[in-house]
Amino acid sequence: MPDDLLDRIRLNGAVPHHVAIIMDGNGRWARERHLPRPLGHRAGMKAVRDVVEGAIAAGMEVLTLFAFSEENWQRPTSEVSALMELLEEYIAREAAELREQGVAVHVLGDRTRLVPGAGEAVERVERETRDGRALSLNLCISYSSRAELARAARLLAEDVLRGAKRLEDVDEDAVREKLYTAPWRDPDLLIRTSGEQRLSNFLLWQLAYTELYITPVLWPDVTRQVLFEAILDYQQRERRFGNVTA
Ligand code: FPP
Repeated sequence: MPDDLLDRIRLNGAVPHHVAIIMDGNGRWARERHLPRPLGHRAGMKAVRDVVEGAIAAGMEVLTLFAFSEENWQRPTSEVSALMELLEEYIAREAAELREQGVAVHVLGDRTRLVPGAGEAVERVERETRDGRALSLNLCISYSSRAELARAARLLAEDVLRGAKRLEDVDEDAVREKLYTAPWRDPDLLIRTSGEQRLSNFLLWQLAYTELYITPVLWPDVTRQVLFEAILDYQQRERRFGNVTA
């Protein structure tokens, strides 16, 4: 079945260059099974693996996943610790295979807040996968879009104060260059799982002209098939970027 979808994607032509995903619904998935929430996150880790492989198979170039928001630090300590441990486990288990698959991992967000073990794991996986050319996998961890924009404003103010930039040079491109996502094009497609219809402080600048796809599937139940269905839906869209149809 996923292979049929992949054939249809290839026949349609243009695959989205960059897909961003808000991975939501791990808690509900666990609750439905009377399991503790961390087990929902653990099941979510398996979905990450399948979707990364699907992204490579589809020929996408960038996949950006919202794994842990700045707001998530307010969750119970036990859940935060479980998520940090999962991050370390994901890296320990997957780093070698990601490198073999040609995936370059990047972590976007305030990494100064990560516990030392997770911080070291993040640096290790970035170092070990930096030559990957098949897919850039951006993991947004301790990330919030407003904090990213405030950071960009601060960095630009510093440049102006020390004379590296003139005030009149502070334009859209200058802001873009200070975002964590500076190396990549804006997402073409945003997928949100679990049926919620909001952006939750994710990539507010970068999503200006991104196509949205919301699926009711809870993140731990997501497979590459959901990604392929979203891509097929995207391929039917007409993107106008504020212009009129040709
Ligand atoms: C949102 O579900 C999901 C998260 C806060 C964590 C996402 C983490 C993973 C998918 C696993 C780890 C991933 C990596 C890359 C190591 P929720 O808890 O808000 O669900 P709910 O809305 O149903 O409560």
